Amino acid sequence: MPFQRFDYVEGELHCEDVALSEIAEAVGTPSYVYSAGAIRENLREYQRSLSGIPHEIHYAVKANSCLAVLAVLAKEGAGFDIVSEGELYRVRRAGGEPSKTVFSGAGKTAAELRYALKHGIGAIHCESVQELELLQSIAMQSRATPRVALRVNPNIDADTHPYIATGLREHKFGIALHDARAVYLDWARWEPLRFTGVSCHIGSQIFDIGVFEEALRQVLALAEHLRDAGLRIRTIDLGGGLAVGYRADQASASISAYGAMLSGALSGTGFRLSLEPGRSIVGQAGVLLTRALYRKPAGRKTFVVVDGAMNDLIRPALYEAHHEILPTVRRQGPAGRCDIVGPVCESGDFLGKDRDIGPCRQGDLLAVGTAGAYGFVQSSNYNSRRRAAEVLVDRGLFRIVRERESLQDLVRGESVWTGSGTVR
Ligand code: LLP
Repeated sequence: MPFQRFDYVEGELHCEDVALSEIAEAVGTPSYVYSAGAIRENLREYQRSLSGIPHEIHYAVKANSCLAVLAVLAKEGAGFDIVSEGELYRVRRAGGEPSKTVFSGAGKTAAELRYALKHGIGAIHCESVQELELLQSIAMQSRATPRVALRVNPNIDADTHPYIATGLREHKFGIALHDARAVYLDWARWEPLRFTGVSCHIGSQIFDIGVFEEALRQVLALAEHLRDAGLRIRTIDLGGGLAVGYRADQASASISAYGAMLSGALSGTGFRLSLEPGRSIVGQAGVLLTRALYRKPAGRKTFVVVDGAMNDLIRPALYEAHHEILPTVRRQGPAGRCDIVGPVCESGDFLGKDRDIGPCRQGDLLAVGTAGAYGFVQSSNYNSRRRAAEVLVDRGLFRIVRERESLQDLVRGESVWTGSGTVR
């Protein structure tokens, strides 16, 4: 079941102990609802399964950057993986430690690097020689001695959606593994950068643990070679990417089996493991709660038009991703298949096609599953729709952790220019 800590109690869908209808009543729809318990459970499974080797979990903030979610993870001892100064700002606001944060990304600007150094970032994962040159000059100006890892690209086919595979030579990410060795040896002589790690990330939503094993084998060989050459490489970062189930009959890849493989391969090597999981921590811990506005027969088809749309959850439109959709109250009666669509003016605006959600009526609440990762964070104001509220459920209580946007929020920073006045 791709809903973690979401269960039917007496016919009604609950998150932990709270009925989703109660949340919808108080907060309105569409709203994202996250289970803090499920988030903790997933992080702890990583920590437990890696307890035999030195390791750090850097949660990938891009998956869900809600301050309240980051705060839950920071409190549990997680570090963070960020890709922009905005994400570092969020980590700091949520009580996370910059020293336990790694900075990834192919296009960091000078201002972002300065910001990261100013706040004592844990490590910077560089992806090109020009980025190293820039970082070196900024580090000298600011008298910082940052820890650096090169992101290497092992040329591995991760068997996932082409938009989220990143480990092939044709992708923009990292430095080809066979070029990386020379770059390390060339650059290690120069201060003030400290080359302490090797990093890689081969893609997202990967079920096959063997693919990670192959990436680790290659990265480990490079790290050992560099250590033998006198570099002080201590950390191997394998990125994120472990898959979760999106379909009712699809189990998530096992965190503990992944941890066992990693522990086996790294124990005794003297290297410290770093991981950057995103989806596998938060994916199944969240739903998008939406209400049916209209039910409309159209020829052989039936449409259920809901108040959530592609601007709220773009994954179905962008990746043809499947998300299970469940009614929050199960009704008896003849079902029928329908398309669940939003109000946005595009035929690509669907949350699910050809689904059996039971005899859904106008006003019914629906929960779109596995929406905790890459859900709200990829939402937009398209069609001038206000972005949804976010709610965190924890130990039987719930709280709005991000207000639904207001009409004023929609035009914040905008002005109407009449053609006169001062030019700026
Ligand atoms: N580390 C790096 C360097 C990454 O680029 C990513 C994800 C992660 C970690 C976390 O990967 P995860 O454990 O979440 O698979 N928007 C897409 C997913 C894009 C993933 C980008 N990178 C989606 O909705 O499926």
